[in-house]
Amino acid sequence: MIFRQLFDSVSCTYTYLLAARSGAEALIIDPVLDKLDRYLKLIEELDVKLVKALDTHVHADHITGLGALRDRTHCITVMGEQSDVDVVSMRAADGDHIDIEGLRLTALYTPGHTDDSYCFLMHDRVFTGDTLFIRGTGRTDFQNGDPRAQYDSIFNKLLTLPDDTLVYPGHDYKGDTVSTIAEERAHNPRLQVKSVEQYVEIMTNLDLADPKMMDVAVPANLRIGLSQEEIEARGWSLTAREALQLSGSEELILVDLRDVSERKRHGIIRGSVHAPYTELDDNLKPGGLLQTLAAQTHKRLVFYCAYGERSAMAVKSAQDTGLADARHIKGGVDAWKRIDGPLERPSD
Ligand SMILES: [Fe+2]
Repeated sequence: MIFRQLFDSVSCTYTYLLAARSGAEALIIDPVLDKLDRYLKLIEELDVKLVKALDTHVHADHITGLGALRDRTHCITVMGEQSDVDVVSMRAADGDHIDIEGLRLTALYTPGHTDDSYCFLMHDRVFTGDTLFIRGTGRTDFQNGDPRAQYDSIFNKLLTLPDDTLVYPGHDYKGDTVSTIAEERAHNPRLQVKSVEQYVEIMTNLDLADPKMMDVAVPANLRIGLSQEEIEARGWSLTAREALQLSGSEELILVDLRDVSERKRHGIIRGSVHAPYTELDDNLKPGGLLQTLAAQTHKRLVFYCAYGERSAMAVKSAQDTGLADARHIKGGVDAWKRIDGPLERPSD
């Protein structure tokens, strides 16, 4: 496995790059915008293909690299479903799997530092974001933080993981890189409490200054969405209502770009073809699934995904390959649900 722990010395943030092997799909956790060029170079050097970029929560101390990585690599951006971020491509809920080739992360909803904080478990290790640090815990005094919720997330979720689970935090200010669940349970000073009240008392009396970047970082991090307006201005969008009226017609083929896990959880639009976004390049090549389908049927391809972000990128790629009829559903399944569009269970 390729596992890289990268450090941003300005915000003391750890970013993690993961891939099953050289040549395989890769995923990045908590990228920092200022380090974009470093990540892109490393991705090239390691010969991996970045397909997913995720943030453990909306950060207050640095600007996320999610939007820029999406623009440069066309990767899928992932955050928890509680995040107020305008548009991310894919939203995770507690227990959801985030898969890339050969690797699986499980999302653990761990509110407390913020109300949108997640940890991600992968085999023998857990990425704890700002929920649990090495010998510390993330502050709970802004962004709807809640020390009670954090106590519950730490004691009733993280500390129930096997003792030897490796702990990889979102920050470290002292130079530590990794710990274990057993080590933190025994030696983390914030966890040596007898009750939730005692924990709340510690956390409410920390008296910390606001992070320097907070006024800039939080608003910037809430707006990382791709401009679907640009795609709309080119006439490549259908509203969910227009798509509903056209669905079932013989003139179009609906193409679902989401992952299997999203299809299972939210359902699919009847009659749609599944062509995951991560395989889009291959599917749009001459002889690829979508190119062949369009050529043989002379039908219009209408892409959809969860929020319209992946499908907006897909419609642009399709247009670039000459599929001038291609469209996408603005706002994706989220918009489709809002107008009570019917969804059914996938067979896969
Ligand atoms: Fe944070």
